[in-house]
Amino acid sequence: MQLPARCNGIRLLLFYLLAFIVLGATAPVSRAQSPAPAAPPTTEQRADALLKQMTLEEKIGQLNQAGGTFAPGAPSDEELVRKGLAGSVLWISEPAAINRMQKIAVEQSRLHIPLLIGLDVIHGYHTIFPPPLAMAATWDPTLVERVQTIAAREARAAGINWTFAPMVDIARDARWGRMVEGAGEDPFLGAAMAKAQVRGFQGVELGASNHVLACVKHFAGYGAADGGRDYDSSYLPDDLLWNVYFPPFKAAIDAGVGSLMSAYMDLNDVPATGNYFLLHDVLRETWKFNGFVVSDAMAVGNLEMHGYARDREDAAYKAFHAGVNMDMASYSYLNELPRLVKVGRITEAQIDALVLPLLVAKFKLGLFENAYIDESKMLAVFNDPASSKCAREAAQSSMVLLKNDGQLLPLDKSGKTYSSIAVIGPVADSGAAQVGFWGGMITAGKDVVTVVQGVRQKVGSNIRIEYAKGPVIRREMQSKFDALPGNKLHEEPVQSPANAKAAFEQAVATAKRCDAVVMVLGEEALMAGEAASNSALRLAGLQQQLLEAVAALGKPVVLVLINGRPLNISWAAEHIAAILEAWEPGNQGGNAVADVLFGDANPGGKLTVTWPRNGGQEPLYYAHNLTFEPETDPNTKSKYQDQPISPLYPFGYGLSYTKFAVSNLQLNKAKAKVGESVGVSVDVQNMGTIAGDEVVQVYIHQQSGSASRPVRQLKGFERVSLGPGESKTVHFTLGKDELTYWSPSEWKWIIEPAVFDVWVGEDSTASLHGSFEVTR
Ligand code: NOJ
Repeated sequence: MQLPARCNGIRLLLFYLLAFIVLGATAPVSRAQSPAPAAPPTTEQRADALLKQMTLEEKIGQLNQAGGTFAPGAPSDEELVRKGLAGSVLWISEPAAINRMQKIAVEQSRLHIPLLIGLDVIHGYHTIFPPPLAMAATWDPTLVERVQTIAAREARAAGINWTFAPMVDIARDARWGRMVEGAGEDPFLGAAMAKAQVRGFQGVELGASNHVLACVKHFAGYGAADGGRDYDSSYLPDDLLWNVYFPPFKAAIDAGVGSLMSAYMDLNDVPATGNYFLLHDVLRETWKFNGFVVSDAMAVGNLEMHGYARDREDAAYKAFHAGVNMDMASYSYLNELPRLVKVGRITEAQIDALVLPLLVAKFKLGLFENAYIDESKMLAVFNDPASSKCAREAAQSSMVLLKNDGQLLPLDKSGKTYSSIAVIGPVADSGAAQVGFWGGMITAGKDVVTVVQGVRQKVGSNIRIEYAKGPVIRREMQSKFDALPGNKLHEEPVQSPANAKAAFEQAVATAKRCDAVVMVLGEEALMAGEAASNSALRLAGLQQQLLEAVAALGKPVVLVLINGRPLNISWAAEHIAAILEAWEPGNQGGNAVADVLFGDANPGGKLTVTWPRNGGQEPLYYAHNLTFEPETDPNTKSKYQDQPISPLYPFGYGLSYTKFAVSNLQLNKAKAKVGESVGVSVDVQNMGTIAGDEVVQVYIHQQSGSASRPVRQLKGFERVSLGPGESKTVHFTLGKDELTYWSPSEWKWIIEPAVFDVWVGEDSTASLHGSFEVTR
């Protein structure tokens, strides 16, 4: 076809265009014109490429976590790592040893795959903060995140790249010693604390520098162990699982947690580590969790002991089938999976699917770029003064003032009121008790400011401080964790009855010589934590007798508790004027206790567990259901004959040196359609003359529906700092998340038309009341 002359220009253009299209792809391009470089492979692609190079043996090796020095009779970690038969090592906490182990993995194993180095960095690595139960008592997720950010930085500087935390098990029974590791009894608060901890450990996303991989644990229901006996079976209906025990796990997953640990115990007769419902149906199918699952220590092998697996091979099969990616220290995968593949019970493709997320985590953590740490830089991280400052602030914020009759606290530090103060008790000068179970594993109670030291520093020469330990306290049975690195230091010597008597008398005599007494009682490190159940919750040893003897002197007595769970302090609650719950306050605990005792810090913590009168009341929690004979009825006959049914202190409770008024509850609507939110606001005012913090708490109750709902459920909170006389309006939203629950009769998540009560106030007994109705 002949184009008109005026089209010649167009023809030329077409020619060039064609030439460009044909030649452009093949002709060498100059630098100036080079196209955008190909996108670097994603971590998933890198992991996949590596997986393709691996032998079956090496793949199974990645699923094996070697048990460090603590796993009895285990093969040598070094040998396993060198042969590519361990993807991770746990229980090595010493930086030089960690570097050595990484060097073997990276330089001596065939594929140079670095290791995940896992450790229980629960509340600090070098700087030990209060444990999670205490941190939850701050009701301050921002502070919790800051604390775990520091813990992550220190751990990473020492070569730990994976922490077995946060522990988010709901605990409604103080007899269970592991209550100290979690946020307490409430799912709403537990979810907030879970999120904050994941953000602190992992940073904005997995792989952020100076952070570690987090591991939410123990999935699920561990805290509901029968009788509060550690490792015993839990029986939890779906209703409780979805509404109470699962939410903190879900929150951690929503926050991006990279790994999850299965629990030890039977859940509804199926051990959690072989529980397909938990690990597959809930975790993978429903929540779409794409991180990896590690068993608890030896838990895969334990499936045999539970009577759930026929033998080790069956145990490995059941855990694998349920979806456990990594076998912690039982070596069942390493020994049994090769045969299971050989006989065709599992396929190599299934193995690949479990290995992949482990490799992805290692790539994300940047371990392939650098698996080592620079030991020379570690001390600078450890010695950052901001960390101890934060530890002191965390301890102050976590303390709960349980009683303060006649405003005995704060004590005058000038020396004008008291010229001498006796500090008395077995944990008054115990670094080990202050750092607790997991803190002791790493630092063994070193670099701790004890209460005696803190008090001495605080008052200087103004007041004469006399210290007497009194009789020592010990666990009634030795702890199996005595063997952990550092824990030897927690052992108190056995004291003969004669020596105990002498120590008792000396303590009473010391109190007698002084104007006022600070009794520091509670638990030594290994009395709370794992395998530390306690039936009666009584004060161990001769502490109760000592308290009574000192109180009988008629001096002003303050009781400070250093412990990991509520104890039976019913007598003290009646007879001692001031009681301060200091938990296990960590490295800076002694300073923080002194700050609070002498008024340099105003306590604002609130209980996150209901405090029982004694062990016989457990399990005890505020969010129970209504009965036809409510506990509020003084004539109720259906409860205990020998004591009131009410707790000693309710959930959410805690006093301050100032007073607050919570008033003017406003709901922005009286009726809301299903799916609509209701706005709640309330005024809070500091009525006193000193600054302080109040935790404003919102509780709801759904009056009717397809299931009975708890008398109250926490659905909002805010810790507010207010100067003298200052007031603030605090806003909350009761929306879809707050009004939905899992109905056991509808078998689904549901918001139901019903009347909802709302209470706002200072604890779970708040009386400021409003209500709204949800309609179709
Ligand atoms: C057993 C504990 O149950 C778990 O919480 C911990 O992370 C592992 N041991 C590893 O120390």
